[in-house]
Amino acid sequence: MSSFKLSENAVDQSVIPTKTLANGVVMPAIGMGTFGSDRFTADDIANAVLGGAAAGFRFFDCAAVYENEPQIGNIFKEMMTVIPRDELFIDSKVWNDQHKNVVAACKQTLHDLQLDYLDLYLTHWPFPNYHAPGCDVDSRSPDAVPYRHEQFMETWAQMEELVDMGLVRSIGTSNMTIPKMELLLRDARIKPVVNEMECHPHFQQQELYSFLTKNGVQPIGFCPIGSPTRPDRDMTENDTVDIEDPVIVAAAKRLGVHPAVVCIKWAVQRGHVPIPFSIHENEYTSNLRCITENPLTTAEMEAISKIDKNCRLIKGQVFLWESANDWEDLWDLDGKIAG
Ligand SMILES: NC(=O)c1ccc[n+]([C@@H]2O[C@H](COP(=O)([O-])OP(=O)(O)OC[C@H]3O[C@@H](n4cnc5c(N)ncnc54)[C@H](OP(=O)(O)O)[C@@H]3O)[C@@H](O)[C@H]2O)c1
Repeated sequence: MSSFKLSENAVDQSVIPTKTLANGVVMPAIGMGTFGSDRFTADDIANAVLGGAAAGFRFFDCAAVYENEPQIGNIFKEMMTVIPRDELFIDSKVWNDQHKNVVAACKQTLHDLQLDYLDLYLTHWPFPNYHAPGCDVDSRSPDAVPYRHEQFMETWAQMEELVDMGLVRSIGTSNMTIPKMELLLRDARIKPVVNEMECHPHFQQQELYSFLTKNGVQPIGFCPIGSPTRPDRDMTENDTVDIEDPVIVAAAKRLGVHPAVVCIKWAVQRGHVPIPFSIHENEYTSNLRCITENPLTTAEMEAISKIDKNCRLIKGQVFLWESANDWEDLWDLDGKIAG
């Protein structure tokens, strides 16, 4: 017998906004992250997923590389005794070392998550560059290569096959740039309907955001709070802290909430889908509830639009190939694909 119960204070589903993707699939306008930043155990995160569902979350952002899909799968099984599968929206991502084995990788994820299908499957990175967990941030794998469009399209063809097989309802990308996305949109038989990207007040990626929305690709924003507990390897001394920004703090004071909550409200009011992570019930509950009440004012939204510091936190150094200059090569900053 399952012990799963919806919380008495669960947010009513009818007040949680949704997004309709270009292929007609409807998704919640907020999700719950499941990457523990090497700080939390798989069981901690699985328990948070259960608590998140009890509080009203229906979208869960998973990935094979987070090494917790079997534990989260047990939780999905338990929650589905109460919440019908079609009320959940579950995504996962193919890891970089499986770009030639996408169908098998997806089947493994489905097995681990104890699901018949995923609502969304993403290419986690557009490179097949694998790096051992916990490796030194400055080390470079001799096998790492720059983006090669023909190679990525071979991976994408397998993503399309998953849709044909009925194993996934939608496909998308993560960590893409405009030049790479232009090529994919030109050549894909089944186009990506989302791109998951870093997005928080100090890293708004407005140009990519506008490009995506113009082209029918829904942005999902990771690190929506500025990932204050990200792994040490992703911390550098020049990084700025969104939740200490005076504009964010002022809005938080007016509303009597934590600055993290202001970041979530900003994301949803702007139009991208944030996927905040927390294992703490008070935090994940307020992350969800906040998007249903007390919106930011137009003046606050405008003030936040001006605090972008172009501060990318997840730089991706470990995916660099040997001849690359530095992490900026991963992001095509001069409008051309590097390498
Ligand atoms: N596609 C990709 O390549 C990619 C990359 C990175 C992340 N992601 C996804 O994005 C998700 C979110 O990113 P993230 O976990 O790095 O960053 P985040 O959501 O910006 O920050 C998470 C941290 O914020 C704090 N927090 C959350 N809610 C709070 C609240 N209401 N009040 C105060 N503090 C709060 C928590 O810290 P405490 O624990 O200290 O309270 C938590 O550990 C991940 O879990 C993952 O699913 C995807």
